Amino acid sequence: MRKFLETKCRAKVNLTLDVLNKRPDGYHNLEMIMHEAGPYDIIAVEINTEGEGIDLSCTRSDIPLGSDNTCYRAAEQFLNAAGIRAQINIKITKNIPAGAGLGGGSSDAAGVIKALDALFGCRMEKDKMAEIGKAVGADVPFFIYGGCALAEGIGERLTPLKELSGARILIAKPNLSVSTPYVFKKFRLSGKLSHPNTAACVEAVKNGDLAALSAAAGNVLESVTEAENPVIGEYKKIMKSFGAAYSLMSGSGPSVFGVFECEQAAERARAEFLKITNEVYI
Ligand code: C5P
Repeated sequence: MRKFLETKCRAKVNLTLDVLNKRPDGYHNLEMIMHEAGPYDIIAVEINTEGEGIDLSCTRSDIPLGSDNTCYRAAEQFLNAAGIRAQINIKITKNIPAGAGLGGGSSDAAGVIKALDALFGCRMEKDKMAEIGKAVGADVPFFIYGGCALAEGIGERLTPLKELSGARILIAKPNLSVSTPYVFKKFRLSGKLSHPNTAACVEAVKNGDLAALSAAAGNVLESVTEAENPVIGEYKKIMKSFGAAYSLMSGSGPSVFGVFECEQAAERARAEFLKITNEVYI
């Protein structure tokens, strides 16, 4: 049997991100609100039950195609969990920049798990697919559900929230890449950090109150990535000067997003960013 499915895998931003503590396993307990936004990758998955193995191809040559690729690991984890042997061919059309804080690798992994579930007719519960995804990466469970959610634990404990309606999220990525493990390694929980108020952010998202969200949100990982890359601060200033209700770095960076109430203001900011970077998404 041969079957084929193509799926869109959208990026995310972290509307707020706090680090609570470091765990004995080296991971950190977090509180963050994740929201699907921005560009999407296209994942084309083909299954052939007469073969065995996982083959990847990608439109970008700098993306690894072996077991260090999240799509590869997602396919491997899925086949093990479902007890299936088959040949899996995955073609990744990459639009989400890598090393950007936009969750591209995690979103693609979730897309592979959902596509394989559909192609093999497994009809797994989303919780089961999220559990498979967690073995690939901490952000993968979020992308199994998508939308907007409060993420706790290492990112896998999810409480769904209403997506921001009527707001425009503009993302601009400076021309540099950041390694998430590096940022967490350099991160220090010190008294100098100003922590966001996650409970207030959750309320603000529930009420669609951007002013309250702006007052309560923050990203403590800026203390590493922005300190080392001042361009991130400059991008946030541009977002605000063009009327963003608020602006933060997403994830471990370096992408910066702005949340706009006014579509025209977001478009004007987009035009401004296009003068300095070609990685701008609305
Ligand atoms: O799970 P994922 O591979 O996306 O995480 C990448 C790296 O980010 C981990 O190896 C770890 O160093 C760091 N991380 C962390 N705490 C989290 C999530 C990620 O320390 N909650």
